[in-house]
Amino acid sequence: MEKPKAQMVEPPRAVLFDAYGTLFDVYSVGLLAEQLFPGQGQALSVLWREKQIEYTRLVSTSNHGAHYRPFWELTRSALVYAIKKIVAGAHSDWAAGGFDAQVERLMNQYRHLSAFPENKAVLQALKDRGVVTGILSNGDPELLGISVRSAGLEGLLDHVISVHSIRKYKTAPEAYALGEQATGLPAGQIAFVSSNSWDALAATWFGYQTLWVNRYQLPFEELGTQPTRTGNSLRDVLAFFP
Ligand code: LAC
Repeated sequence: MEKPKAQMVEPPRAVLFDAYGTLFDVYSVGLLAEQLFPGQGQALSVLWREKQIEYTRLVSTSNHGAHYRPFWELTRSALVYAIKKIVAGAHSDWAAGGFDAQVERLMNQYRHLSAFPENKAVLQALKDRGVVTGILSNGDPELLGISVRSAGLEGLLDHVISVHSIRKYKTAPEAYALGEQATGLPAGQIAFVSSNSWDALAATWFGYQTLWVNRYQLPFEELGTQPTRTGNSLRDVLAFFP
């Protein structure tokens, strides 16, 4: 019988984390959406996230990147779309700027997401083991900087890598290659951690050792490849280091 992949490989020398949903909790955005749009907050935040990711793929794969826009701008466009579809419909309120205040409040909430409670201890435990740590994210550098500072994670991260420098979003291979370039290590010696199953899948395809943090008991992607490990919190990354 084939041995699990995780037992056959050396412990990684670096760990790179996805940002949104993995290190930073986007849940508070859903709570605010529910306050602003009672009964529609859940649907709105789900569509917002889906559109945000869809837009990153759309601009990455169309016209050789000619339509690239930073993550922050795509996030705002996705929010506007979600409000138009779920809340405003064809209402004239939209044209009259009736939702500007809600857009600003939700975007501001996104800028100051809280970190998951286990983050600091896990990052510290990795540092104590001499493991290089970092973020590899679609987020633009300014947004990532604010998120890292408001979560108090400076000093625990050796690298904060944004795809903005290459104007291509994950899951483009060039985006995952930034992790190798920043650390000077091949992907096989790096663990990539994401709570987004599509991100964990594509990083596995790229060659990283991977941990999928399945915080919400979801099924993994049905495309034949499994992540190296699956867990339900960031703490599970420590299993790479017996
Ligand atoms: C990121 C998004 C995809 O941080 O969560 O890259």
